[in-house]
Amino acid sequence: MNYARFLTAVSAARKPSPIRMLTEIQQRSPPSMISLAAGAPNPNTFPFQSCSIQVKNGDMLTFDETMMKRALQYSSSSGIPELLTWMKNLQKNLHNPPTANYSAEKGQMDMCVTTGSQEGLCKVFEMLVNPGDNVLLDAPTYSGTLAALQPLGCNLINVPSDQHGMIPGGLKEVLSRWDPADVHKPHSTVPRVLYTIPNGGNPTGASMTTQRKREVYELARQYDLLIIEDDPYYFLQFDKPWAPTFLSMDVDGRIIRTDSFSKILSSGLRIGFVTGPKPLVDRVVLHIQASTMHTSTFTQLMVSQLLHGWGQEGFLNHIDGVIEFYRTQRDAMLSSADKWLKDVAEWHSPAAGMFLWIKVKGVADTQKLIMEKAMEKEVLLVPGGVFMINSSDPCSYVRAAFSLSTPQQIDEVKKHTHTHTCKCSHTYTHTHTNTLEGNKCTFSFFLHRLSRGSLHSSRNLCEEYIR
Ligand SMILES: Cc1ncc(COP(=O)(O)O)c(C=O)c1O
Repeated sequence: MNYARFLTAVSAARKPSPIRMLTEIQQRSPPSMISLAAGAPNPNTFPFQSCSIQVKNGDMLTFDETMMKRALQYSSSSGIPELLTWMKNLQKNLHNPPTANYSAEKGQMDMCVTTGSQEGLCKVFEMLVNPGDNVLLDAPTYSGTLAALQPLGCNLINVPSDQHGMIPGGLKEVLSRWDPADVHKPHSTVPRVLYTIPNGGNPTGASMTTQRKREVYELARQYDLLIIEDDPYYFLQFDKPWAPTFLSMDVDGRIIRTDSFSKILSSGLRIGFVTGPKPLVDRVVLHIQASTMHTSTFTQLMVSQLLHGWGQEGFLNHIDGVIEFYRTQRDAMLSSADKWLKDVAEWHSPAAGMFLWIKVKGVADTQKLIMEKAMEKEVLLVPGGVFMINSSDPCSYVRAAFSLSTPQQIDEVKKHTHTHTCKCSHTYTHTHTNTLEGNKCTFSFFLHRLSRGSLHSSRNLCEEYIR
């Protein structure tokens, strides 16, 4: 692939930072090397000495003084080597990318660490999207993507999608506006970039089928498109085997994949990864050199120690536990939706992720309903419009996340047996025997408030519930 043709002028103009290069050389050097080169501060002056972090399984992550000095110091822009190596092995085992053994110029799979996948996405967009470019995506889509793309002045073109993700026939039709023969002509307006969320889409909960991925990949080959596979919910797929990824099909080196640890290890540590052809990952790293310099060394070391301690098996066991939690949450949300919203709304059961995408029947636009009426009733949902290319277009959907019934709520609820009679004369009784029941109550309660909220005094409900 000719990767140069995809780069924006800004990205193409990026040069390696000589100081950052020296930092990397210094970090690979033996301790006998005397360096007067780096402008790194002396960690002996830092106030922190050591730390240990208790892992829930009883393990300890320990940073002795030497490790602490490293954790507090500048590090490589692509990520600390031991975390990168661990992740590369995981990617190879999970996705078996055809590009793993390609030469660098041919698009060999490479990776870098980013400060959450959001940083990766933002930098990938800046690398590839010029003002006026046509960019393909399937909206409704992640509002963080729209926030990163729209200021670049590109023309976002919507590709039809449903609960199984982007529809290849729809993509084909959109692309039929152009002739594949024109792709490489100067000033061609043929799109060069396609973005999609393949699993548990935010906000739709949609997951793309393998067949659709294959067809979309073939169209990408025909029109020489790069595909940005934004997959933070990959590890939250409820059913196994997990769907093959675009990365696993990438014979050409045209997939840039973003992964995230936010949903499985911690969102606050801010660890994500860009995986893609080396010539493009190198450009992202040059951007990191000039912006954040690197993701926090401390958090990378912390995560790396955890992962090396666990091994891949331990990591995947942890994921299984996370999946079970979200599956239970999803099922609870679905059963509550069945109970309370059947007459007023439609939805599909998400196969991954943490979102239920609810179409409110008979409401052309949910903005007012959510931002005024639901807020009045102390219910927070996201009106669907914020996920549309044009956020002022009417949208009859709302996004409900099933991730955040707090342990405290669950715990409080499970302690009590309470009967609540609504003023709308709807009576329901809960006997809470375990956390799952507690969760069900949370969702029932929540959706009940949404569906019949106007008949309740929300304050009373709240007090009774929190008790
Ligand atoms: C589809 C999608 N992509 C990317 C992100 C960014 O995740 P993070 O930066 O926390 O890795 C999110 C966060 O919710 C998301 O839903």
